[in-house]
Amino acid sequence: MGVSSSRSNDSQHRSEVAAQSPSRSGVFAAQTDKRLEAFSESISFDHRLFRHDIRGSIAHARMLARQGLISEQEFQQIESALGEIEREIAEGKMPWRPELEDIHMHIESALIERLGDVGRKLHTGRSRNDQVNTDFRMWVRDALDEIDELLRGLQRAFVGRCQRDMDVILPAYTHLQRAQPVLAPHYWLAYVEKFERDRQRVADCRRRVNVCGLGTAACAGTTLPIDRRMTAEELGFEEVAANSLDVSSDRDFVIESAFVLALIAEHLSGWAEEWILWSTVEFGFLKLPHQFCTGSSIMPQKVNPDTLELTRGKTARVIGNLQTLLVLVKGLPLAYNRDLQEDKPPLFDSFDTVRACLQLAIPIVEQAELQREAIRARLDDGFLDATTLMEHLIRQGVPQRTAHHLVGKLVGMAQDRGVRLADLDAEQLREAWEELDPDVLEALGVEKAVKAYRSYGSSNPDLVAEQVQRWRKRLQ
Ligand code: ARG
Repeated sequence: MGVSSSRSNDSQHRSEVAAQSPSRSGVFAAQTDKRLEAFSESISFDHRLFRHDIRGSIAHARMLARQGLISEQEFQQIESALGEIEREIAEGKMPWRPELEDIHMHIESALIERLGDVGRKLHTGRSRNDQVNTDFRMWVRDALDEIDELLRGLQRAFVGRCQRDMDVILPAYTHLQRAQPVLAPHYWLAYVEKFERDRQRVADCRRRVNVCGLGTAACAGTTLPIDRRMTAEELGFEEVAANSLDVSSDRDFVIESAFVLALIAEHLSGWAEEWILWSTVEFGFLKLPHQFCTGSSIMPQKVNPDTLELTRGKTARVIGNLQTLLVLVKGLPLAYNRDLQEDKPPLFDSFDTVRACLQLAIPIVEQAELQREAIRARLDDGFLDATTLMEHLIRQGVPQRTAHHLVGKLVGMAQDRGVRLADLDAEQLREAWEELDPDVLEALGVEKAVKAYRSYGSSNPDLVAEQVQRWRKRLQ
């Protein structure tokens, strides 16, 4: 066989190979190994980006037409075909083909199937790195908005029960030991504050997500006269990324979102743990709504707080996803590397998990019932008013360290006798300290202790009521 005939065979072979997938140019001399196909596909998860990909493609095509890179008529054809493709995918009618790798190539191939050469023009001045970056930023933006709305719903659920729980006093704990009495709404608003910071983080993170990378082409930009401002604006981005190398490699927005979600999960997990404890016989503070509890297959008496346990348990995954993402980008040289494809499953998972946790937390917070009788019956346990007594003495001029020691002594005496501080008599008080005025007993009892708080941010009933009003207005 002569050299020339082998050459022509080779080029024919090459064009057949190229027909396999739009991303395989004429340079390829062999078909993709099936094992690589299965290994590298992302369509199994990035199909979630299809609406954003289509929106991005329409904006890109409109810009190409405006810039004279395609005709107005070609744009119209592309726009309407993309609309059809979107419906087809939404109806589950597009089969996923691993050889097409990802959502971007599925959509482009479908377009080419419909429009031929007109479809082949869509990818002018654009790369898949552009697409994935732009699509994912739009997806994350929507996801953050959804999380924000759910966080707001959860805040409203907590604020919504403040009025009805205003008369309930609960022990506050430090080291999980009874510490000081607080109003139940003081607890509820503590969580409202935490979720407010989460919402602030969501909003702040969103600003950095909302930067447009479309138009960086592969990594260095393009010689074609594209208009990046136009596409950015059409896609609702607030800024156009200023450096093509940076933005095509940047996954800060993914990591930051994963962090924001991880911290939300941490807050939910802490709350879940607390309410699991509160719903035990040992605490007996709370009855959880039965539609969010499960039973035991062997013990008929059991009503288990599985929703809360899984909220706590799934937090591990959300934290793990953040770790995965941090390690993923560690040590990647500029600009795009295929490693980055691995950024989607962890963030999708974090988002799905946190969303599900929030969706369940809201009705649980709304419907759980405080066990008022049981709580009240044990408010005298644990000397919750000891600190109030100490502060009463301080106000009478006793140095803090002396008062601290003295009240400790009184607590010891009461413990020995198995009574409350208020049950000690005048003689016992004098035994502790000769100068002790028996009037101090007036300050005792959890109700008085709560009313006696004065500092801003404390559980004083008037201050708590003010905070409830403030949150009500804010969350309207
Ligand atoms: N599926 C790819 C990803 O998620 C899209 C970009 C592919 N780019 C490339 N040069 N192979 O990252």
